[in-house]
Amino acid sequence: MSSVEEVEAALAEERAALAGAGDERALEEWRTRVLGRSGRLTAILRSLGERPPELRRELGRAANQAKAALERDLAERQRELAERELAALSAGSLDVTLPGRPRPRGGLHPITQTLREILAVFSEMGFASVEGPEVELDRYNFDRLRIPEDHPARDMWDTFWFDEEPSGAGRLLLRTHTSPMQIRYMERHEPPIRIVVPGRCYRYEATDATHEWMMQQVEVLAVDEGISMADLKGTLWECARRLFGSGRQVLLRNSYFPFVEPGVELAVDCFACDGTDPACTVCRGSRWLEIMGAGMVHPEILEASGYDSGRYTGFAAGMGVERIAMLRYGVEDIRHFYQNDLRFLSQF
Ligand code: DAH
Repeated sequence: MSSVEEVEAALAEERAALAGAGDERALEEWRTRVLGRSGRLTAILRSLGERPPELRRELGRAANQAKAALERDLAERQRELAERELAALSAGSLDVTLPGRPRPRGGLHPITQTLREILAVFSEMGFASVEGPEVELDRYNFDRLRIPEDHPARDMWDTFWFDEEPSGAGRLLLRTHTSPMQIRYMERHEPPIRIVVPGRCYRYEATDATHEWMMQQVEVLAVDEGISMADLKGTLWECARRLFGSGRQVLLRNSYFPFVEPGVELAVDCFACDGTDPACTVCRGSRWLEIMGAGMVHPEILEASGYDSGRYTGFAAGMGVERIAMLRYGVEDIRHFYQNDLRFLSQF
């Protein structure tokens, strides 16, 4: 019995329904019911093909017009409702034109920022970043780095030991430095090697302004044919220049670490006094601030890793991230970094 009258009846009926739809949800329900895929008008439009040709045109036009009219009505009604809602809101005590409250935003921890910068410098020079275990065997942390049991060099690293000995593999400890990853990496890879190893290290030490029981290090290792002290200097110079700026002077002086020969330490001149103040509290009048230990990988370590030390040479370095962050930002006490005091942390 569908006809033009039925379209008109539907139009009138749905207009009335629309006028009664009082909120956004009612409007949406109305829209799907009336204009949606299984709506009444859609059904009439779909059925046009089965109609007698003389009715088809007229009915099609009427249904399309009705649909367009209802769509206009809907848009109009939506505007009305939105205006009404806004009017209701601003009539109350709420000022909807006030700017929103900013949400507090977090930021990266200064140590994370410094660590990422160090890794970026080395990444640009072709070093891959790898990580090793924090719970380590004494074999890797000490023996294989030429720091045997009962050797006084062990005193350089006060150690957290675990009580139990698992499966006879050796004693477990919290690694005191990232250097054991040199050994682990060389065990499984052949030269050429260019890696950096970031990670947490632990020392059984009383804390003070420059010592924490936990700190982060970045280890550097390069092994290849023809690597010399010049490569060590060039790489570490570049690292210091990028971290501290080209205005700083860099000093390389000899030092001792059992796993390198020769061993050196790298220092930059004091940012606080430029090396001019004998009473400076930052460098204690010494002019230089040590930022890392380094050296040429000891040939015995290369041999123990199965490398021919006549063919391959390498350099290694290790730096403390907190120490570098302290020097860059002028932080006078390492303990600030891990006290979670936002008054301190939000300055970075
Ligand atoms: N592992 C040393 C430490 O924690 C730092 C270090 C010194 C690393 C010399 C090295 C190196 O790779 O060659 O005190």
